[in-house]
Amino acid sequence: MIRDLELTAILNSRGEETVRVTVVTEEGRFSSDCPCGKSRGSAEPVFLPVSRISGFFPEFKKNLIGFDETDFESVDSFLEEFGGERFSKIGGNLSIAVSQAVLKAAAGGDVYRFLGGRRVFPYPLGNVIGGGVHGGYTEIQEFLVVPFGSETLPEAVRTNVEIWNAVRTYLEARGIPWGRNDEGAITFKAGYRKILEILCSVAEDYGAGVGVDMAASTVFENGEYRYPSSGKVLDPGEQLEFVRDLVRTFNLVYVEDPFHEEDFSSFAELTRSVKCVVCGDDLFVTNPERLEIGLNLKSANGIILKPTQAGTVSRLFKTENLARKKGMIRVVSHRSGETCDPFISDLAVGTGSELVKCGIMGGERVSKANRLLEIWERESERGRVRMVRVR
Ligand code: PGA
Ligand code: ZN
Repeated sequence: MIRDLELTAILNSRGEETVRVTVVTEEGRFSSDCPCGKSRGSAEPVFLPVSRISGFFPEFKKNLIGFDETDFESVDSFLEEFGGERFSKIGGNLSIAVSQAVLKAAAGGDVYRFLGGRRVFPYPLGNVIGGGVHGGYTEIQEFLVVPFGSETLPEAVRTNVEIWNAVRTYLEARGIPWGRNDEGAITFKAGYRKILEILCSVAEDYGAGVGVDMAASTVFENGEYRYPSSGKVLDPGEQLEFVRDLVRTFNLVYVEDPFHEEDFSSFAELTRSVKCVVCGDDLFVTNPERLEIGLNLKSANGIILKPTQAGTVSRLFKTENLARKKGMIRVVSHRSGETCDPFISDLAVGTGSELVKCGIMGGERVSKANRLLEIWERESERGRVRMVRVR
Protein backbone atom coordinates (compact mmCIF):
# COMPACT_ATOMS: atom_id res chain seq x y z
CA MET A 1 0.00 0.00 0.00
CA ILE A 2 1.17 3.53 -0.77
CA ARG A 3 1.88 5.11 2.60
CA ASP A 4 3.33 8.41 1.49
CA LEU A 5 4.73 10.36 -1.43
CA GLU A 6 7.56 12.86 -1.35
CA LEU A 7 8.46 15.54 -3.84
CA THR A 8 12.00 16.84 -4.32
CA ALA A 9 12.90 19.71 -6.62
CA ILE A 10 16.03 18.41 -8.34
CA LEU A 11 18.14 19.58 -11.30
CA ASN A 12 18.35 18.02 -14.75
CA SER A 13 21.47 17.88 -16.93
CA ARG A 14 20.81 21.44 -18.18
CA GLY A 15 20.58 22.74 -14.62
CA GLU A 16 16.82 23.26 -14.91
CA GLU A 17 14.57 22.43 -12.02
CA THR A 18 12.57 19.22 -12.35
CA VAL A 19 10.72 16.78 -10.11
CA ARG A 20 11.72 13.63 -8.29
CA VAL A 21 8.91 11.68 -6.68
CA THR A 22 9.49 9.08 -3.99
CA VAL A 23 6.76 6.56 -3.25
CA VAL A 24 6.88 5.06 0.22
CA THR A 25 5.32 1.62 0.76
CA GLU A 26 5.71 -1.21 3.31
CA GLU A 27 8.39 -2.60 0.99
CA GLY A 28 10.57 0.50 0.87
CA ARG A 29 11.17 3.77 -0.95
CA PHE A 30 11.00 4.02 -4.76
CA SER A 31 12.06 7.18 -6.59
CA SER A 32 11.84 8.36 -10.15
CA ASP A 33 12.72 11.60 -11.96
CA CYS A 34 11.11 13.51 -14.79
CA PRO A 35 13.43 14.54 -17.68
CA CYS A 36 12.63 17.62 -19.82
CA GLY A 37 12.73 18.11 -23.58
CA LYS A 38 13.61 21.21 -25.56
CA SER A 39 12.24 20.25 -28.97
CA ARG A 40 8.85 19.33 -27.58
CA GLY A 41 5.90 18.34 -29.72
CA SER A 42 2.98 20.74 -29.36
CA ALA A 43 0.63 17.87 -28.45
CA GLU A 44 2.77 16.84 -25.44
CA PRO A 45 1.45 17.05 -21.86
CA VAL A 46 1.68 20.47 -20.23
CA PHE A 47 4.56 20.82 -17.76
CA LEU A 48 4.06 23.00 -14.68
CA PRO A 49 6.83 24.94 -12.89
CA VAL A 50 8.16 22.92 -9.96
CA SER A 51 7.42 25.84 -7.61
CA ARG A 52 3.74 25.56 -8.51
CA ILE A 53 3.71 21.79 -8.07
CA SER A 54 5.30 22.18 -4.61
CA GLY A 55 2.36 24.43 -3.68
CA PHE A 56 -0.40 21.88 -4.31
CA PHE A 57 1.58 18.65 -3.72
CA PRO A 58 0.68 18.21 0.01
CA GLU A 59 -3.04 18.22 -0.89
CA PHE A 60 -2.58 16.26 -4.13
CA LYS A 61 -0.73 13.35 -2.55
CA LYS A 62 -3.60 12.63 -0.15
CA ASN A 63 -5.51 11.26 -3.16
CA LEU A 64 -2.88 8.59 -3.71
CA ILE A 65 -2.21 7.41 -0.19
CA GLY A 66 -3.91 4.06 0.35
CA PHE A 67 -3.66 2.88 -3.28
CA ASP A 68 -2.27 -0.62 -3.79
CA GLU A 69 1.02 0.05 -5.60
CA THR A 70 0.90 -3.28 -7.44
CA ASP A 71 -2.22 -2.00 -9.18
CA PHE A 72 -0.25 0.73 -10.93
CA GLU A 73 -2.88 0.95 -13.67
CA SER A 74 -5.44 2.27 -11.17
CA VAL A 75 -3.00 4.94 -10.02
CA ASP A 76 -2.42 5.88 -13.68
CA SER A 77 -6.18 6.06 -14.37
CA PHE A 78 -6.51 8.42 -11.47
CA LEU A 79 -3.65 10.60 -12.77
CA GLU A 80 -5.17 10.65 -16.27
CA GLU A 81 -8.63 11.62 -15.03
CA PHE A 82 -7.61 14.02 -12.29
CA GLY A 83 -4.88 15.57 -14.50
CA GLY A 84 -7.38 16.98 -16.97
CA GLU A 85 -6.72 17.96 -20.58
CA ARG A 86 -3.06 17.21 -21.38
CA PHE A 87 -2.41 16.88 -17.61
CA SER A 88 -2.67 20.67 -17.32
CA LYS A 89 -4.14 20.51 -13.79
CA ILE A 90 -1.29 18.60 -12.16
CA GLY A 91 1.49 18.88 -14.76
CA GLY A 92 2.61 16.07 -17.02
CA ASN A 93 5.98 16.30 -15.28
CA LEU A 94 4.49 15.47 -11.88
CA SER A 95 2.23 12.82 -13.37
CA ILE A 96 5.00 10.84 -15.09
CA ALA A 97 7.33 11.02 -12.08
CA VAL A 98 4.55 9.60 -9.87
CA SER A 99 3.63 6.97 -12.45
CA GLN A 100 7.23 5.78 -12.93
CA ALA A 101 7.88 5.69 -9.17
CA VAL A 102 4.70 3.65 -8.59
CA LEU A 103 5.73 1.20 -11.34
CA LYS A 104 9.10 0.80 -9.61
CA ALA A 105 7.24 0.15 -6.35
CA ALA A 106 4.94 -2.35 -8.08
CA ALA A 107 7.99 -4.15 -9.48
CA GLY A 108 9.64 -4.05 -6.07
CA GLY A 109 12.99 -3.56 -7.85
CA ASP A 110 13.62 -4.66 -11.40
CA VAL A 111 11.08 -2.99 -13.66
CA TYR A 112 12.27 -4.86 -16.77
CA ARG A 113 11.56 -8.23 -15.10
CA PHE A 114 8.18 -7.06 -13.87
CA LEU A 115 7.35 -6.13 -17.47
CA GLY A 116 8.38 -9.58 -18.65
CA GLY A 117 11.51 -8.69 -20.62
CA ARG A 118 14.69 -10.71 -20.17
CA ARG A 119 16.05 -12.27 -23.31
CA VAL A 120 16.25 -9.63 -26.05
CA PHE A 121 18.08 -6.35 -25.90
CA PRO A 122 17.59 -3.16 -27.92
CA TYR A 123 20.34 -1.63 -30.04
CA PRO A 124 21.47 1.67 -28.54
CA LEU A 125 20.86 4.53 -30.97
CA GLY A 126 23.69 6.96 -30.21
CA ASN A 127 23.77 10.71 -30.79
CA VAL A 128 27.31 11.37 -32.06
CA ILE A 129 27.10 14.84 -33.62
CA GLY A 130 24.46 17.41 -32.71
CA GLY A 131 22.82 20.68 -33.63
CA GLY A 132 19.42 22.38 -33.68
CA VAL A 133 17.92 23.55 -30.42
CA HIS A 134 20.30 21.29 -28.45
CA GLY A 135 23.23 23.44 -29.60
CA GLY A 136 25.55 23.21 -32.62
CA TYR A 137 26.08 24.60 -36.08
CA THR A 138 23.56 22.73 -38.15
CA GLU A 139 19.76 22.81 -38.10
CA ILE A 140 19.61 19.00 -38.19
CA GLN A 141 19.31 18.12 -34.51
CA GLU A 142 21.02 14.73 -34.28
CA PHE A 143 23.44 12.66 -36.35
CA LEU A 144 23.04 9.16 -34.97
CA VAL A 145 24.61 5.72 -35.23
CA VAL A 146 23.17 2.22 -34.70
CA PRO A 147 25.87 -0.41 -34.04
CA PHE A 148 24.19 -3.16 -36.05
CA GLY A 149 27.55 -4.88 -36.50
CA SER A 150 27.74 -5.64 -32.76
CA GLU A 151 26.39 -8.92 -31.52
CA THR A 152 26.20 -8.19 -27.82
CA LEU A 153 25.02 -5.25 -25.77
CA PRO A 154 28.46 -4.58 -24.22
CA GLU A 155 29.98 -4.55 -27.71
CA ALA A 156 27.23 -2.23 -28.99
CA VAL A 157 27.70 0.24 -26.13
CA ARG A 158 31.47 0.18 -26.66
CA THR A 159 31.10 0.69 -30.40
CA ASN A 160 29.04 3.87 -29.94
CA VAL A 161 31.67 5.26 -27.57
CA GLU A 162 34.44 4.35 -30.02
CA ILE A 163 32.64 6.08 -32.89
CA TRP A 164 32.16 9.21 -30.74
CA ASN A 165 35.88 9.15 -29.88
CA ALA A 166 36.89 8.51 -33.49
CA VAL A 167 35.02 11.66 -34.59
CA ARG A 168 36.69 13.62 -31.81
CA THR A 169 40.12 12.31 -32.84
CA TYR A 170 39.39 13.20 -36.48
CA LEU A 171 38.60 16.80 -35.48
CA GLU A 172 41.54 17.16 -33.12
CA ALA A 173 43.99 15.78 -35.69
CA ARG A 174 42.88 18.58 -38.04
CA GLY A 175 42.86 21.29 -35.40
CA ILE A 176 39.09 21.77 -35.73
CA PRO A 177 37.59 23.23 -32.53
CA TRP A 178 34.74 21.18 -31.14
CA GLY A 179 32.32 21.18 -28.23
CA ARG A 180 29.49 19.17 -26.68
CA ASN A 181 25.81 20.05 -26.65
CA ASP A 182 22.84 19.33 -24.37
CA GLU A 183 22.86 15.63 -25.22
CA GLY A 184 26.63 15.19 -25.03
CA ALA A 185 26.84 15.10 -28.84
CA ILE A 186 29.86 16.65 -30.58
CA THR A 187 29.42 20.07 -32.19
CA PHE A 188 31.73 21.69 -34.73
CA LYS A 189 31.46 24.16 -37.56
CA ALA A 190 30.46 22.23 -40.66
CA GLY A 191 27.47 21.76 -42.92
CA TYR A 192 25.26 18.69 -42.74
CA ARG A 193 26.87 17.11 -45.84
CA LYS A 194 30.38 17.31 -44.43
CA ILE A 195 29.11 15.96 -41.10
CA LEU A 196 27.42 13.01 -42.78
CA GLU A 197 30.51 12.27 -44.88
CA ILE A 198 32.69 12.14 -41.76
CA LEU A 199 30.20 10.12 -39.73
CA CYS A 200 29.47 7.63 -42.51
CA SER A 201 33.14 6.94 -43.08
CA VAL A 202 33.78 6.40 -39.35
CA ALA A 203 30.61 4.31 -38.87
CA GLU A 204 31.57 2.06 -41.77
CA ASP A 205 34.75 1.01 -39.96
CA TYR A 206 32.56 -0.26 -37.10
CA GLY A 207 29.79 -1.84 -39.15
CA ALA A 208 27.33 0.74 -37.82
CA GLY A 209 24.39 2.35 -39.59
CA VAL A 210 23.87 6.13 -39.70
CA GLY A 211 20.67 8.07 -39.08
CA VAL A 212 19.35 11.57 -38.34
CA ASP A 213 16.74 13.24 -36.17
CA MET A 214 15.69 16.27 -38.20
CA ALA A 215 13.24 17.57 -35.54
CA ALA A 216 11.70 19.36 -38.52
CA SER A 217 9.03 21.22 -36.54
CA THR A 218 11.83 23.34 -35.07
CA VAL A 219 12.79 24.69 -38.54
CA PHE A 220 9.23 25.01 -39.85
CA GLU A 221 7.82 28.52 -40.14
CA ASN A 222 4.94 29.85 -42.22
CA GLY A 223 4.71 26.74 -44.37
CA GLU A 224 8.45 26.52 -45.10
CA TYR A 225 11.49 24.69 -43.77
CA ARG A 226 14.28 27.18 -43.05
CA TYR A 227 17.97 26.31 -42.90
CA PRO A 228 19.77 29.62 -42.18
CA SER A 229 23.23 28.01 -42.01
CA SER A 230 23.03 27.13 -45.72
CA GLY A 231 20.49 29.77 -46.80
CA LYS A 232 18.07 27.01 -47.84
CA VAL A 233 14.31 27.63 -47.65
CA LEU A 234 12.21 24.64 -48.74
CA ASP A 235 8.51 24.15 -49.35
CA PRO A 236 7.08 20.77 -48.18
CA GLY A 237 7.63 19.15 -51.58
CA GLU A 238 11.25 20.30 -51.67
CA GLN A 239 11.73 19.10 -48.10
CA LEU A 240 10.57 15.64 -49.19
CA GLU A 241 13.11 15.66 -52.02
CA PHE A 242 15.81 16.92 -49.65
CA VAL A 243 15.22 14.10 -47.14
CA ARG A 244 14.91 11.46 -49.82
CA ASP A 245 18.21 12.60 -51.29
CA LEU A 246 19.88 12.45 -47.85
CA VAL A 247 18.63 8.90 -47.27
CA ARG A 248 19.83 7.69 -50.66
CA THR A 249 23.15 9.56 -50.81
CA PHE A 250 24.25 8.56 -47.32
CA ASN A 251 22.45 5.24 -47.15
CA LEU A 252 20.72 6.27 -43.92
CA VAL A 253 19.12 3.52 -41.86
CA TYR A 254 17.00 5.85 -39.70
CA VAL A 255 15.24 9.21 -40.14
CA GLU A 256 13.25 10.80 -37.31
CA ASP A 257 10.78 13.68 -37.68
CA PRO A 258 11.70 14.66 -41.25
CA PHE A 259 8.55 16.81 -41.51
CA HIS A 260 6.42 19.15 -39.46
CA GLU A 261 4.47 17.40 -36.68
CA GLU A 262 1.09 17.76 -38.42
CA ASP A 263 2.23 16.63 -41.86
CA PHE A 264 1.19 12.95 -41.66
CA SER A 265 0.97 12.71 -45.46
CA SER A 266 4.57 13.76 -46.26
CA PHE A 267 5.69 11.18 -43.68
CA ALA A 268 3.64 8.60 -45.59
CA GLU A 269 5.17 9.56 -48.93
CA LEU A 270 8.67 9.22 -47.55
CA THR A 271 7.89 5.90 -45.85
CA ARG A 272 6.58 4.59 -49.17
CA SER A 273 9.66 5.60 -51.11
CA VAL A 274 12.65 4.72 -48.92
CA LYS A 275 13.86 1.53 -47.25
CA CYS A 276 15.01 2.97 -43.90
CA VAL A 277 13.22 3.41 -40.57
CA VAL A 278 11.02 6.51 -40.77
CA CYS A 279 10.32 7.36 -37.15
CA GLY A 280 7.72 9.69 -35.64
CA ASP A 281 8.57 11.58 -32.46
CA ASP A 282 6.74 14.95 -32.36
CA LEU A 283 4.38 13.38 -34.92
CA PHE A 284 2.99 10.78 -32.48
CA VAL A 285 4.07 12.17 -29.07
CA THR A 286 3.60 8.61 -27.68
CA ASN A 287 -0.14 9.23 -27.97
CA PRO A 288 -2.35 6.25 -28.97
CA GLU A 289 -4.87 8.46 -30.81
CA ARG A 290 -2.18 10.14 -32.90
CA LEU A 291 -0.61 6.75 -33.61
CA GLU A 292 -4.01 5.53 -34.92
CA ILE A 293 -4.04 8.42 -37.40
CA GLY A 294 -0.50 7.57 -38.49
CA LEU A 295 -1.33 3.88 -38.87
CA ASN A 296 -4.34 4.63 -41.04
CA LEU A 297 -2.24 6.85 -43.29
CA LYS A 298 0.84 4.55 -43.12
CA SER A 299 2.86 7.58 -42.08
CA ALA A 300 5.80 5.83 -40.45
CA ASN A 301 7.34 2.45 -39.67
CA GLY A 302 8.96 3.56 -36.41
CA ILE A 303 7.84 5.37 -33.27
CA ILE A 304 9.61 7.18 -30.45
CA LEU A 305 8.33 6.20 -27.00
CA LYS A 306 8.94 8.86 -24.36
CA PRO A 307 7.31 8.47 -20.93
CA THR A 308 7.14 12.28 -20.59
CA GLN A 309 5.05 12.46 -23.75
CA ALA A 310 2.60 9.86 -22.46
CA GLY A 311 2.10 11.34 -18.98
CA THR A 312 1.65 7.88 -17.40
CA VAL A 313 3.39 4.56 -18.02
CA SER A 314 0.02 2.89 -18.74
CA ARG A 315 -0.60 5.32 -21.56
CA LEU A 316 2.88 4.62 -22.92
CA PHE A 317 2.12 0.86 -22.80
CA LYS A 318 -1.12 1.44 -24.71
CA THR A 319 0.79 3.19 -27.51
CA GLU A 320 3.62 0.66 -27.36
CA ASN A 321 1.20 -2.28 -27.62
CA LEU A 322 -0.44 -0.85 -30.68
CA ALA A 323 2.93 -0.13 -32.31
CA ARG A 324 4.17 -3.66 -31.58
CA LYS A 325 1.06 -5.28 -33.03
CA LYS A 326 1.53 -3.28 -36.21
CA GLY A 327 5.17 -4.32 -36.50
CA MET A 328 6.62 -0.86 -35.98
CA ILE A 329 10.19 -0.29 -34.81
CA ARG A 330 9.85 0.91 -31.22
CA VAL A 331 12.42 3.41 -29.99
CA VAL A 332 12.36 4.08 -26.25
CA SER A 333 13.95 7.50 -25.81
CA HIS A 334 15.58 9.91 -23.36
CA ARG A 335 15.09 13.70 -23.40
CA SER A 336 17.70 16.40 -23.86
CA GLY A 337 17.41 17.59 -20.23
CA GLU A 338 18.00 14.27 -18.47
CA THR A 339 18.64 13.00 -14.95
CA CYS A 340 20.60 9.91 -13.89
CA ASP A 341 17.41 7.87 -13.46
CA PRO A 342 17.91 4.89 -15.81
CA PHE A 343 14.18 4.10 -15.95
CA ILE A 344 14.08 4.06 -19.78
CA SER A 345 16.63 1.23 -19.92
CA ASP A 346 14.27 -1.02 -17.97
CA LEU A 347 11.43 0.13 -20.17
CA ALA A 348 13.33 -0.70 -23.36
CA VAL A 349 14.31 -4.22 -22.21
CA GLY A 350 10.93 -4.79 -20.52
CA THR A 351 9.01 -4.04 -23.70
CA GLY A 352 11.50 -5.85 -25.96
CA SER A 353 11.86 -2.66 -28.00
CA GLU A 354 14.09 -2.66 -31.07
CA LEU A 355 16.03 0.50 -30.24
CA VAL A 356 16.86 2.63 -27.23
CA LYS A 357 17.89 6.24 -27.78
CA CYS A 358 19.92 7.18 -24.75
CA GLY A 359 22.91 9.20 -25.94
CA ILE A 360 26.56 8.26 -25.63
CA MET A 361 28.48 10.68 -23.44
CA GLY A 362 27.75 12.43 -20.14
CA GLY A 363 26.79 10.97 -16.76
CA GLU A 364 23.05 11.24 -17.39
CA ARG A 365 23.44 9.31 -20.69
CA VAL A 366 25.99 6.79 -19.40
CA SER A 367 23.65 5.92 -16.52
CA LYS A 368 21.23 4.41 -19.08
CA ALA A 369 24.00 2.44 -20.81
CA ASN A 370 25.28 1.22 -17.46
CA ARG A 371 21.87 -0.05 -16.45
CA LEU A 372 21.58 -1.91 -19.78
CA LEU A 373 25.01 -3.45 -19.16
CA GLU A 374 23.96 -4.51 -15.67
CA ILE A 375 20.78 -6.14 -16.95
CA TRP A 376 22.71 -7.88 -19.75
CA GLU A 377 25.27 -9.24 -17.30
CA ARG A 378 22.64 -10.54 -14.94
CA GLU A 379 20.42 -12.08 -17.59
CA SER A 380 23.25 -13.72 -19.51
CA GLU A 381 24.21 -15.52 -16.31
CA ARG A 382 20.70 -16.92 -16.17
CA GLY A 383 20.62 -18.09 -19.78
CA ARG A 384 20.77 -17.08 -23.39
CA VAL A 385 20.36 -13.41 -24.25
CA ARG A 386 20.60 -11.76 -27.63
CA MET A 387 20.22 -8.47 -29.42
CA VAL A 388 16.78 -7.88 -30.92
CA ARG A 389 16.62 -8.53 -34.66
CA VAL A 390 15.99 -5.23 -36.45
CA ARG A 391 16.81 -5.83 -40.11
P1 PGA B 1 14.04 16.90 -26.69
O1 PGA B 1 14.55 16.28 -28.05
O2 PGA B 1 14.23 15.95 -25.60
O3 PGA B 1 14.87 18.16 -26.54
O4 PGA B 1 12.59 17.26 -26.92
C1 PGA B 1 14.72 14.93 -28.24
C2 PGA B 1 14.25 14.49 -29.58
O5 PGA B 1 13.74 15.31 -30.39
O6 PGA B 1 14.36 13.32 -29.91
ZN1 ZN C 1 13.19 13.64 -31.91
